[in-house]
Amino acid sequence: MLHSIPHGGKLINRILRGKDRELSELKAKELKKLQLNKREISDLEMIATGAMSPLEGFMGRDDYNTVVDTMRLANGLPWSIPITLSVKEETANDLSMKEEVALVDGEGNSLAVMLIEDIYSHDKEKEAIEVYKTDSPEHPGVKQLYDSGPILIGGKISLFHRPRHKDFIQYRLDPADTRKIFQEKGWKRVVGFQTRNPIHRAHEYIQKSALEIVDGLLVHPLVGATKGDDISAEIRMRCYEALFENYYPKDRTFLAVFPAAMRYAGPREAIFHAICRKNYGCTHFIVGRDHAGVGNYYGTFDAHYIFDEFEDGELGITPMFFDHTFYCKRCTSMASYKTCPHDSSEHVTLSGTKVREMLKNGVTPPPEFSRPEVAKILIEAMSVNKE
Ligand code: ADX
Repeated sequence: MLHSIPHGGKLINRILRGKDRELSELKAKELKKLQLNKREISDLEMIATGAMSPLEGFMGRDDYNTVVDTMRLANGLPWSIPITLSVKEETANDLSMKEEVALVDGEGNSLAVMLIEDIYSHDKEKEAIEVYKTDSPEHPGVKQLYDSGPILIGGKISLFHRPRHKDFIQYRLDPADTRKIFQEKGWKRVVGFQTRNPIHRAHEYIQKSALEIVDGLLVHPLVGATKGDDISAEIRMRCYEALFENYYPKDRTFLAVFPAAMRYAGPREAIFHAICRKNYGCTHFIVGRDHAGVGNYYGTFDAHYIFDEFEDGELGITPMFFDHTFYCKRCTSMASYKTCPHDSSEHVTLSGTKVREMLKNGVTPPPEFSRPEVAKILIEAMSVNKE
């Protein structure tokens, strides 16, 4: 496939400009205000920029139900994660169909207007089991779901103010921007890489292995809300900058941020991540071990198998699957269970917990696990956090 087509055929743009923007902003002052949480603000921005094409707003019950039950929108298009706006019962009682409301951020700044097209309740346990494969409130995505309001509001949004960001400004590129950049670079086949963790050698290896067979690599760290013990996006981006400076070919790799919040929905989130990256212009998408996983809720390769639930070509983006990768002392190179014949005692693997412990104690992980430039940034960041 050459150049990716946005999901559903066209890139959605729900960002108002010029006179429309001014009028909408004025109108919003008179409307009831719904305050969005961090995840909802990320979703709002992604809907508006087309990162979630073909969605034009928060889901109504038809899309919600088919997404939860069948991983498809009501029109049959693949979609794996409900994109919803929840409110408390008292708030919902005060809202009516076809009413317009203003969507505001945590500080009360108006961002968008939404036309209410549906007001409905959701079965949280059912959504948890179907989407997250567990109803345990220990699961961070399920916890968020259980903490959300009981009523969902669906309808198209029109954005007149981008959420205020102070960080990663030069890396905040919309799907229209990345698509243009790939075209200018002459990249026809582009592989996207999702990540929420500091880069280690296995990440670098699978990115570069994928790059061997396509024209360009989009490294696309997620910078929306993550669970408390994940390393902050700011530190992760510093690690990426250090690596891009020293080890990545400038004409074949591109770094930008993905504004989504993490759901930790494992396999279902892998499909969602792939579809969004298709909207950013990627033709291929990397899925490694335990993609978007947390704890022991998912099998190591469930996020690979889920792609088989769709017909060939139906997703419009080609997954590139990677087995568990590591440095092998006998191979004297990075390898995976697929390519390495040696015993696992030869492999340099470290759990996330172990690495965090080492870094906290100022111990540099072996260079076969983490590039020294990255280890240095992480150790410094951890010592600042300790003070
Ligand atoms: S994720 O939640 O964004 O998936 P992470 O940043 O750790 O977490 O992973 C980014 C991507 O790299 C995912 O596709 C993941 O499956 C893959 N990955 C991470 N570590 C490894 C590894 N050791 N071997 C193979 N794939 C890996």
